[in-house]
Amino acid sequence: MSNVDFLDLARKEHERQEQTLRLIPSENYAPDAVLHLLGSALTNKYSEGYPGKRYYEGQTYIDRIETATIELAKELFEVPYANVQAYSGSPANMAVYGALASPGDTIMGLSLDAGGHLTHGHHASLTGKWFQSVPYGLDPETLHIDYEDLERQAREHRPQIIISGISAYPREVDFERIGRIAREVGAYHVADVSHISGLVARDLHQNPVPHADVITTTTHKMLRGPRGALILSHDEEIAKRINKTVFPGLQGGPHMNNIAGIGYTLQQARTDDFLTYVKQIRANTDALADALHTEGFNLVTGGSDNHLLLLDLRESEVDGARLSEALMKANISTNKNSIPFDDASPAHPNGLRVGTPAVTTLGMTEDDMPEIARLMRDVATHPQDAHRLEQIGEEVKMMTQQFLE
Ligand SMILES: Cc1ncc(COP(=O)(O)O)c(C=O)c1O
Repeated sequence: MSNVDFLDLARKEHERQEQTLRLIPSENYAPDAVLHLLGSALTNKYSEGYPGKRYYEGQTYIDRIETATIELAKELFEVPYANVQAYSGSPANMAVYGALASPGDTIMGLSLDAGGHLTHGHHASLTGKWFQSVPYGLDPETLHIDYEDLERQAREHRPQIIISGISAYPREVDFERIGRIAREVGAYHVADVSHISGLVARDLHQNPVPHADVITTTTHKMLRGPRGALILSHDEEIAKRINKTVFPGLQGGPHMNNIAGIGYTLQQARTDDFLTYVKQIRANTDALADALHTEGFNLVTGGSDNHLLLLDLRESEVDGARLSEALMKANISTNKNSIPFDDASPAHPNGLRVGTPAVTTLGMTEDDMPEIARLMRDVATHPQDAHRLEQIGEEVKMMTQQFLE
């Protein structure tokens, strides 16, 4: 194979991101400081162990970075214990299950097609292979989590862990209720707030911290930090088990460049600017929901309590795959997604998932949402028209350009 210019490819990807209306709800723009920390000399250091107890010398600055990041995580989420070493959200969840359950134990999470995550027990994930997975789902009428059925199943199956948390569910999760069910059946309650961590941290969503034994979150979605994760807990014994499961159980040396980026991110997340940001995410999501309605799109549950919307395309001429591809040709990035009780294949589902964290970071407000909805309608009306898609793509570039200047 001939030489590949990776630096050039990274530059091009940067440019692509700047010219795209990025509506994938799990994506964001990390600030320059985070990008610098990721590319800093911290990446050169091996630091197996935890602050004060390392297996390598030369940890003066590393220990200060990790200790500060742990303290910031504890302070932001108001918990006594935090592990900041998990490489990302999936290994964080795996470490928690490894700490709290044994292979073969039963775990319960929201099923993938109802808006849960793969690592909540889906059969394609190790979490569904190593544990007995009993998924819970949605009420077919309201399309909200069916807490009564969750309770009934929990009583019947007596799981070791009940996982709460969402990837594609637009409504508030009742962590308190799930915590109560978990306590009643003697299960651990693990809340995965990866998607909604910013809302949770700044009290714009019900907080799972008082109701869950362990809380996990990625750091690169709404928190707009580097790719990584936090594992938060209340109990010293559980925290020790989690630390041991992360290292040496599952991982080797922590990625200290990421951890410094996480520290920086958590410091930002406690500022007034971040509060303004997450409030704007909520306002933008509601405004986008209204605008999409006006443009004739149907939304699962009619709207959102968080940062994401799920378009129901069953009455549309295009499915989620065709629409997301056409949108991408017009520089609008979204993702195809199943909708609840979808009988279409996952390759061509009847849904499309969109969210506002990235466009809100760009500086867009409620006033810009009608234009986004109009552009999406234009694409949905001309999904095969290459010329029209190119024209819309130019409009999108002009729109995003205004926010980069
Ligand atoms: C709720 C939830 N948990 C965990 C993860 C996994 O995170 P990662 O992709 O960093 O492994 C995701 C990713 O989308 C998620 O949405």
